Amino acid sequence: MAGGSSAEHHLLSRIAAGDGHGENSSYFDGWKAYEMNRFDLRDNRDGIIQMGLAENQLSLDLIEQWIMEHPEASICTAQGASEFRRIANYQDYNGLPEFREAMAKFMGQVRGGKVTFDPDRVVMSGGATGAQDTLAFCLADPGDAYLVPTPYYPAFDRDCCWRSGVKLLPIECHSANNFTLTQEALVSAYDDARRQGIRVKGILVTNPSNPLGTIMDRATLAMLATFATEHRVHLICDEIYAGSVFAKPDFVSIAEVIERDVPGCNRDLIHIAYSLSKDFGLPGFRVGIVYSYNDDVVACARKMSSFGLVSSQTQNFLAKMLSDAEFMARFLAESARRLAARHDRFIAGLREVGIACLPGNAGLFSWMDLRGMLRDKTHDAELELWRVIIHKVKLNVSPGTSFHCNEPGWFRVCHANMDDETMEVALDRIRCFVRQHQQSKAKAERWAATRPLRLSLPRRGGATPSHLAIPSPLALLSPQSPMVHAS
Ligand SMILES: Cc1ncc(COP(=O)(O)O)c(C=O)c1O
Repeated sequence: MAGGSSAEHHLLSRIAAGDGHGENSSYFDGWKAYEMNRFDLRDNRDGIIQMGLAENQLSLDLIEQWIMEHPEASICTAQGASEFRRIANYQDYNGLPEFREAMAKFMGQVRGGKVTFDPDRVVMSGGATGAQDTLAFCLADPGDAYLVPTPYYPAFDRDCCWRSGVKLLPIECHSANNFTLTQEALVSAYDDARRQGIRVKGILVTNPSNPLGTIMDRATLAMLATFATEHRVHLICDEIYAGSVFAKPDFVSIAEVIERDVPGCNRDLIHIAYSLSKDFGLPGFRVGIVYSYNDDVVACARKMSSFGLVSSQTQNFLAKMLSDAEFMARFLAESARRLAARHDRFIAGLREVGIACLPGNAGLFSWMDLRGMLRDKTHDAELELWRVIIHKVKLNVSPGTSFHCNEPGWFRVCHANMDDETMEVALDRIRCFVRQHQQSKAKAERWAATRPLRLSLPRRGGATPSHLAIPSPLALLSPQSPMVHAS
C-alpha cells in the first residue's frame, strides 16, 4: 500500500498512507538481516544473533513451573474449565475486578512496597505501547509537544506521534554526566519549544531508562514533578522496567516521589505507563497499564480501552498468578539475581578487550561505548560501524542514533533474550572484532611512525610533492577493515 500510486493514497487517511509507523526506517535493516539468517546454536552457528530485542527470557522457567503447579489458573484445563463461561462472555471495559486488584498490588510489590496503587485507576491497554498511544490521545492535540530526554526508546515516535500527532522534542543529555537529565537541559528544551510557538503538553521519561539501563534519582524526579506543576505540563513516566532493577541504588517510582517529596505536586498531571512485557517477560500477552492520578484521564482512557482490551482469559490467569504474593516475591528476587548475573558477565567479557558500557543497574541491555572505534565522530561513521557489526560480526545491535542519541558511537546491546551459550558466542564475536580492530590500528600507527611526513613545502608555482598526497594510514581504518567470521 505504501508503494501505491498517489491516487490510491487518496483512498486512505493521511495517517494510514503516511509512514509514521516507522517500519520503513533504516534501523530495521538489522532486523531484516536477522530474519534472513537467524543464529541457532545447533543448526546455524554462522547466523546473526539478535541483540536488538529487549526481551526477558531469563526467568520464564519459574512461570512455567508455577503454571504446572496451578492448572486451575487456566480456563483451558480440566481444573479451570468450570470458570470458562464466566470468563468467555463479554466483559466490561473496566476489566475483571480481580485482575485490577492483583495488578495494583503487583505494581506496589515491584516498587518495593513503598507505595500503593488504587485498582480503580488501573486501566488496561495493549502493552505499554497501547498505554502511550492512549495517553497521547488523552493529553495532547496534534502539533502539541512532549519533551523527551535523549537517548530515548525509538518507538515513542510511533506510539505518541503516529495516531495522535504529538511532536517529540529532545532534551539533550550527554555522556559527560552519564546522560543524566538536568534542570538546565529541561528548561532549555522548554524555552526553545516556546520560542518556536510550540505548545508543550508533557514531559515523557522512561525510568529505568531504555536504552541506558540506569535509573533516575529521587531529586531528578522531584525536579520534574515540580517543573510539571509550575508549568502545567503533564509528566508521563514509563516505568516498564521498574521490576528489572538488579543492583543498588534502589528504584524510585514517581508514585513515591509525589507522595513523599513533592507534596504540592499537581497530581492531575502525573501518569504512569506500565506493562508485564519486561519485568515478567510476557510481551506476547500484551498486558499494558495506564495509571493516571487524573480522574478525567482515567475515565477517557477506560473508554478507549475498548480498542485494546486484554483478553479476559489472560486477565483471569494473571489475576491468579499475580495475587500469589509469595511466588511473586520469589520471582522478582530471582529475576533480579539472574539479570545481575547476565549483566555482570557481559560487562566483564567486554572489559577483557577494553570496551566499556555506561554503568547501569537496570533493564535487559547495556549501553556500549564504541566511540573509540569510529572512523570519525559523526553519525554516518556510527552507522557505518553498525553495518559492519550486523553483516560481518553478525550481531544485530542498535545504534545510538536510533535512540536519538546526539553523541555518535553508543550502541544498545540486549543480552537477556538468549541463553548463556549464545551470549558467550556473541561475546566472543565482539571480542574478536575489537581485537582485530585494535591490531589494525596499532599496525597503522606503527606504519605512520616509521614514515614521518617530510614537510618540504612546494616551491612557489611547483606541484604538490607526492608524499603529501598520501592519505593518512588512519584514514584506511574504516570499520570495514576487520572482518570477523562467526565462531
Ligand atoms: C521503554 C519502553 N516502553 C514501552 C515498550 C513497549 O512495551 P510493550 O511490549 O508492553 O508494548 C518498550 C519495549 O521495548 C520499552 O522499552
